[in-house]
Amino acid sequence: SLPVPEMPPCDVTPETYKGRDYDETMRVKKKHISPTKVPAYSEPLLLTQGKMQWLWDHEGRRYLDMFAGIVTVSVGHCHPVVADGLKDQIDRLWHTTNLYLTPPMHEYAEKLTATLPDHLKVCFFTNSGSEANDLAMALSRQYTKSFDVISFRNAYHGGSPYSVGLTAHGTWKHNYPNGFGIHHSVNPDPYKGIWGGSKCRDSPIQADRECGCMGECEAGGKYLGQLREVLDYSVSGRPAALFAEPIQGVGGAVQFPKNFLKGAFDLVHERGGLCVIDEVQTGFGRLGSHMWGFESLGLRPDIVTMAKGIANGFPMGAVVTTPEVAQAFTGTLHLNTYSGNPLATTAASKVLDVIESDGTQALCARVGGRLIHELAKLRDEFSIVGDVRGKGLMLGVEMVEDKSTRAPLNPADMMEIWDSMKSMGLIVGKGGLRGNTFRLKPPMCISESDADFAVAVMRKSISDFVNKS
Ligand SMILES: Cc1ncc(COP(=O)(O)O)c(C=O)c1O
Repeated sequence: SLPVPEMPPCDVTPETYKGRDYDETMRVKKKHISPTKVPAYSEPLLLTQGKMQWLWDHEGRRYLDMFAGIVTVSVGHCHPVVADGLKDQIDRLWHTTNLYLTPPMHEYAEKLTATLPDHLKVCFFTNSGSEANDLAMALSRQYTKSFDVISFRNAYHGGSPYSVGLTAHGTWKHNYPNGFGIHHSVNPDPYKGIWGGSKCRDSPIQADRECGCMGECEAGGKYLGQLREVLDYSVSGRPAALFAEPIQGVGGAVQFPKNFLKGAFDLVHERGGLCVIDEVQTGFGRLGSHMWGFESLGLRPDIVTMAKGIANGFPMGAVVTTPEVAQAFTGTLHLNTYSGNPLATTAASKVLDVIESDGTQALCARVGGRLIHELAKLRDEFSIVGDVRGKGLMLGVEMVEDKSTRAPLNPADMMEIWDSMKSMGLIVGKGGLRGNTFRLKPPMCISESDADFAVAVMRKSISDFVNKS
């Protein structure tokens, strides 16, 4: 069998953890924590410290974090610039509500809008991504005076009772009414969707799938036909909005055919609807080529929603839109108590500083480019690695029973490989409707040797699994 890969060095010595021990923590978890909070791994991790791309558990074991608390620790655990900004603000002012003016929120609104195209000028701040999408849906309905909203199957736009209607994964829905007025169009997935092949994606790595397209990809146009049918068959005239992620996150790093979203936005705009781009996972330089995922696709959104990486793990979300759309919401009062909170907007402001000073976007392109090419080798080596996809540091590895059927690898086998990676110090995520896609979306500060280590561990875990007697 392959040797256990050696973890790249790290010059941080973690504190000795002296808190509540593992068994006690598990006891409290079982008794007092909501049973919906199902932790990763057959033996959950107790994490006690973090620094940049590294995490430590209660026994001082070090892990390379390739999942960033679900794509949220954007610039690194406890990044010194963000931490210093928070320390400075924490003794000055924590909270007032936006009944009053506070400096950090105003400073941040100006900085954030400077990263966006000129028409997107007005910010609403929220506490989470679900709330940002709730608000984006309310804004688009209010502005258009229409009700119908469209999103794609396999999308995840939130778990609140309003945004969960946009989410189209049965696994994330509960049995209460949701999604009234929301229609889900067929997911344009070039790997396992109805149409797709080896010319679809904006990526150096294409799906390993034959297609009949002559020259350019034709799958995008066919999926667009499905969206047109939803508009024709299900929508009452003018739609309120289309929601889309530039690359699906929870859905397992699914990348649409190249020009699909451009065509979809044009179509919805022609019908008078707004286009909302959900940058909760893809924003802040993660895709490498641009600051925002929509820029990489040549889109002109009317509303952008963001959260997660916005404040490096400090709870916060945002909706940025045009003055006209924002104005439509002024007829009645709107309050969100913590919106623009001084601590959250200070953290968010420091994140933008770090992205600029640390060359974060270029790093995503460089290290992500290397990572996807190395991951693609795993697909060549193993029959159970079906697809490798994504862009920058937003990557997915879809595991299958067998390449010819593309049937998902079953949950027990996924867990075995996942546990094995953890035992060698590698944390990755899982996603997709069937949970059979490993997700690599680390803090945007990893190095080439970290990327190589991650691939070496994945290779060993998959090889041990495949070769076990
Ligand atoms: C693309 C996308 N939008 C929205 C959300 C919801 O964000 P939150 O969990 O902060 O409510 C998520 C969460 O995973 C997401 O991935």
